[in-house]
Amino acid sequence: MIVDQTALLIELEPVVAANLDRHLSLAKEWFPHEYVPWSEGRTFDGLLDGEPWREDDSAIPDVARTALIVNLLTEDNLPSYHHEIATLFGRDGAWGTWVHRWTAEEGRHGIALRDYLTVTRAVDPVALERARMTHMQAGYANAHPEEMMHSIAYVAFQELATRISHRNTGKATGDPLAEQLLARVAADENLHMVFYRNLLAAAFDLDADHAMQAVADVVAGFEMPGANIEGFQRKALSIALAGIYDLRQHRDEVLQPVLRQWNVFGRTDLTAAGEKAREQLAAHMDELEVQAARFEEKREARRRRQAEKR
Ligand SMILES: [Fe+2]
Ligand SMILES: [Fe+2]
Repeated sequence: MIVDQTALLIELEPVVAANLDRHLSLAKEWFPHEYVPWSEGRTFDGLLDGEPWREDDSAIPDVARTALIVNLLTEDNLPSYHHEIATLFGRDGAWGTWVHRWTAEEGRHGIALRDYLTVTRAVDPVALERARMTHMQAGYANAHPEEMMHSIAYVAFQELATRISHRNTGKATGDPLAEQLLARVAADENLHMVFYRNLLAAAFDLDADHAMQAVADVVAGFEMPGANIEGFQRKALSIALAGIYDLRQHRDEVLQPVLRQWNVFGRTDLTAAGEKAREQLAAHMDELEVQAARFEEKREARRRRQAEKR
C-alpha cells in the first residue's frame, strides 16, 4: 500500500510522461481569435464614449447567458487552480511539463469566451468584470490538498463535467458561432479528462484500496469548481432546469462513464477496506439516482404547469 504522497508521485511519473506524449499528439492547435466575429463589435460607453450595453444587444436566452457567465468565471479562476496543482504535482519533470501545458490550454478558454461575449455583447460587461473580481478574490482551494489520489479523481470528474457543461451551454445559446466555440473548448476538456482518468487508472493498479476510497470520497463530496461564485445556487438551479447541467447528467454522463473505465464495480483486487469504500460509492450512486429522478419529475411537472399557463 502506497500512502506516501512523494512515493506516489515518483511511481506515477512514467505514466504522466506517457500520457503527456499521448496528449500532445492528440491536442489540436487552435486560435481563439478565429472564433470571434470581430466586425460585429461596437465601442462601449465610458472612456471612448460609445454605446452602453443593453439587454437586447443579444438574442441569447437568459439561461444560456447565466451558464456562459458561470463557465467563464470558472475558467477565470485559473491562477488558483494552477497554484493548487503546481503545489500538489510539483513543477519538475513530466509532472511540471503537464502542469504548465494544461495551464496554457486552460488560459485559452477564458480568453476565447471573454472575447466572444464582449464582441457580441451577450452579457453586461460591467457586471461580468465585477463578478470576475469578486470570484477571483475568493480564490479556489483544493478540497483534498494532501491527497494525490483524491485530487486526481476530482479533476477527472471535473474536466468531464466542464466538457458537458460547455457543450450544452453552446447548444442553449441558439447561436451557431457560440456553439462552435464551446464545442472547441469542450474538446480540450475531454482530453484533460482522459489524461487524469488514465492517471487514476494507473493509481488503481498501484493501490486499489486507496484509489477506491479516494473515488468514494470525491463522488460523495463533489462540488463544481465554480460553486463559490456569488449566487451559484440560484444559477445552478436555472442551469439544471434548462437541462444544461443537471443531476442526471452529472450521474449518468460524468460519474458513470469514468467509474466504468476504472472498472470500479468489477475489480477483484480489493481488500476489506477497499470493499467497504466500494459499498459507500455504490450507495451514493443509488442515492444520486433517486435524487436525479425526483428532480426530473419536478422539472417535468413545472414544464407542464408552464405550458398550461400559455
Ligand atoms: Fe477549461
Ligand atoms: Fe480542462
